[in-house]
Amino acid sequence: MNEMAPGTVAEATPVNESTNCARAPIGLLAELTHRCPLQCPYCSNPVELERANTELSTEDWQNVMRQAAELGVLQIHLSGGEPTARRDLEDIVATAAEVGLYTNLITAGVLLTKERLQKLRDLGLDHVQLSIQDVDPENANRIAAYKGGAEKKHEVAKWVRELDMPLTINAPLHRQNIDSLPRIIDYAVEVGAGRLEVAHIQYYAWALKNRAALMPTREAFMKTAQIVDEAKERLKGILVIDFVVPDYYAKYPKPCMGGWGRGIMNVTPSGRVLPCHAAESLPGLEFDNVRDRPLADIWLQGQAFQKFRGTDWMKEPCRSCPRKEIDFGGCRCQAFALTGDPANTDPACSLSPLHKEWAEVATQESHVEPPEFIYRRMGKPTTEPTRG
Ligand code: SF4
Ligand code: FES
Repeated sequence: MNEMAPGTVAEATPVNESTNCARAPIGLLAELTHRCPLQCPYCSNPVELERANTELSTEDWQNVMRQAAELGVLQIHLSGGEPTARRDLEDIVATAAEVGLYTNLITAGVLLTKERLQKLRDLGLDHVQLSIQDVDPENANRIAAYKGGAEKKHEVAKWVRELDMPLTINAPLHRQNIDSLPRIIDYAVEVGAGRLEVAHIQYYAWALKNRAALMPTREAFMKTAQIVDEAKERLKGILVIDFVVPDYYAKYPKPCMGGWGRGIMNVTPSGRVLPCHAAESLPGLEFDNVRDRPLADIWLQGQAFQKFRGTDWMKEPCRSCPRKEIDFGGCRCQAFALTGDPANTDPACSLSPLHKEWAEVATQESHVEPPEFIYRRMGKPTTEPTRG
C-alpha cells in the first residue's frame, strides 16, 4: 500500500542550491514491471528481477507521476521489462498526461494491439520507442527467443505512424546482427521513424554473461561508425540517428546517466528509487522507496543520490582530469563490476590503468567462435530459445 498522499511532495525540501544538486531531474525512468515476454541475451535489467507481487499499485504509480511533475521532471519513460504487460498502463499514462509530463513508451511491441495503442494515444501518450532485434525475422526471433516477434514489431511500427505518433526505433547492435546495419537504417526510414538509436550493447548486468557471444571486432565496429556517418548525412531532415559506441572500443567513457544524480532518476517496479538502473549492484548504497519517502526528498537528500553526485568523490586520474565534468568518470556500475571499487575510473577510459588489459578482452573474445546465448528467462536462464 502507498503510505503517501498525492500532496506529500509539497512538504519535501525545495529544489535549491543548498544541496549538492542545482536542478531538478529532466527525466524519470519508470520501470513499471520486470515481466517481459522476450528473453534478450543483452537485457540491461538487473540480474535479480523483481517479482510481479512486489510491483507498485496503480495508485502508487499515479502518485509517482504527480510527484515527478511537482519536482520539475519533464519526461517520463515508461519502461520495463515490458510496460504493456501492466493492464493499468492506461491509468498511469492518463495521470502523467494530466499533470503535464511528456510520456515515452519504451516497448518491445509484441503485446500491443492497435486498439490499445490508439487508446493510449487518446489518453495522452506522446511518443513510442520500439526496440527491434534485427531486420531479418529469423535472426531477430532467435535473438529475442520469441516466435513471430519481428513480424509483430513491424506491424506495431506501422500502427504508430498510422496513428500519427512520433516513433523511435531502438536497435541494439552486436556481432550477431551487425551486418544488418544498412538494412536497419532502411527499415527505420521505411516505417516512418523520426529517430533511430543504433546502440552498441553495453556489457552490464545480464549482457555481461553474454559478452563473448555479443562482442563485435574492432574492425566491424569501425565499419558501423562509417555507415552511420554516411547515413546521417544522406538522411538529413528525414531520420535522426543516435549512435552509441561500445565502451570497449571507446577512448573516453560515456557520462553514464548524464552524470550520477544530475538529470535522471529510475524507479524500480517495487518503488525503489535509483540513480541508475544498475545501481543495486553497488555496495554500500541505501535506496529509498516511493512508498516511504517523497520523491523530491529522495532526489535531493537520498544517500544513494548523494554518494557519487558531483565530483568530490573522485579518485585519480579523474580527480585532476579536465574531462571530469564532461563524462563524470564514466559508469560507476561498470567501474565496480570490473575493478571492485565504484569510485575508480571506469576502465572504458583510456586513462584508466586497467584500460589496456580490459580492451584486450574484447579483442580476444570477438575473434573466437561465439558461444551460445544464455537467454534471459525469469527464474531460469537457458540456452534454449523455446518460448514464444
Ligand atoms: Fe573521464 Fe576520469 Fe577518464 Fe578523465 S580520467 S576522461 S574524468 S573517466
Ligand atoms: Fe550505473 Fe552506469 S549503469 S552508473
